Amino acid sequence: MDGRPPLEHLAAWLRDHPFHVDVALAALTCLATVVLPAGSYWSNPSQAFLIGLLLTVPLAWRRRAPIPAAAVVVAAGLLELVAVETFLAANVSALLMIYALAAYAPRWAGRAGLAIGLFGAVLAALRFFSANAGDALIVTAGSIGVAVVAAWALGDLRRARGLRMAQLEERARLLELERDQEMRLAATAERARIAREMHDVVAHSLSVVIAQADGGRYAGRTDPEAATGALEAIAATGRQALADMRGLLGVLREDGGEEYAPQPDVAAVSGLVEDVRTSGLDVDLLVEGAPRELPAGPQLAAYRIVQESLTNVLKHAGPASRAWVRLHWRPDALELSVLDDGRGASAAMVEADGAGQGLVGMRERARLHGGRLDAGPRPGGGFGVHAVLPYPARR
Ligand SMILES: Nc1ncnc2c1ncn2[C@@H]1O[C@H](COP(=O)(O)OP(=O)(O)O)[C@@H](O)[C@H]1O
Ligand SMILES: [Mg+2]
Repeated sequence: MDGRPPLEHLAAWLRDHPFHVDVALAALTCLATVVLPAGSYWSNPSQAFLIGLLLTVPLAWRRRAPIPAAAVVVAAGLLELVAVETFLAANVSALLMIYALAAYAPRWAGRAGLAIGLFGAVLAALRFFSANAGDALIVTAGSIGVAVVAAWALGDLRRARGLRMAQLEERARLLELERDQEMRLAATAERARIAREMHDVVAHSLSVVIAQADGGRYAGRTDPEAATGALEAIAATGRQALADMRGLLGVLREDGGEEYAPQPDVAAVSGLVEDVRTSGLDVDLLVEGAPRELPAGPQLAAYRIVQESLTNVLKHAGPASRAWVRLHWRPDALELSVLDDGRGASAAMVEADGAGQGLVGMRERARLHGGRLDAGPRPGGGFGVHAVLPYPARR
């Protein structure tokens, strides 16, 4: 049970059970205008009683089936003109039906109800009040007519209010839909972000581990020292990957805890280059310009782009290749280049089907921060990745 006052409960119940309400209305009208006065003033009681019922009972269907109900009332009215001598109190039902037609039936039906009502006013005046001739007749017809117009106008107002309510409800529904969609989009974007991170962390660490293991295997026979170094590097890479994964999973569990784990930034690129170098790739780092403050998003993007590019060099460039990483802090943007002198175009041809998540993810990362990224074989041989990450506008 909620804490609403009883009156509000009653109003809600009435709103939810319109047919019950209409049956009660019909019963009350019938009681007041047909049953109670029965026999008191009618000249021909049995017809009058029957016609009174025909006039009032259809009120129960004034909302469920307004047009048929109105048709019955009109028919009863015509019968009344022919078969009864006095104007019945039950005629008030005609006003209620005109209201219902204007409020709940199609527009044309409301207007037809108005016309028939006005016509009926004249007929009733002529039939039942012809004793008072002349002006009095016009006054009678006029008063019934005014009541008819008033009933119709009230019904039309009711319809307008209903329409406005429906529009408001539709608006609310659309807004809710929009919010749902936005939430779904946000969830999708978040999933894509996590997938990118997973791919970059896992692919990079595994590539480094594989390169180290291959190196260690050859060194094992002749140079146990080097083999030990390789194993240490493998262990360190594995631990780092595990830590990165934990951070990522932490973000997943801790919804909202965006910065759960400290994310790598541009400054960490030198450590990355160092790592890759120990796994056997000859790679140089060149930094130009004065480093700028960057938000965490672009920082991470820059790091991951370099990481994935170097992973690709390890995977695809072939043995005995060299690589260059260049960070250029331009006045307007951070420019990243990772170049190698490996197999380049031929590798891309050979593995044309193997386009994985890496390039796609790098491009998305760059675009996410308002930048762009080009990657492909270089004209002179080798492969190149070139990214521009604009600095966010100062405010
Ligand atoms: N440094 C590179 N040298 C040669 N080919 C590369 C290089 N980087 C990427 N490629 C080519 O681009 C393709 C797509 O790379 P990527 O999207 O990272 O997928 P994956 O590394 O999972 O294969 C690679 O399969 C490869 O053919
Ligand atoms: Mg890759």
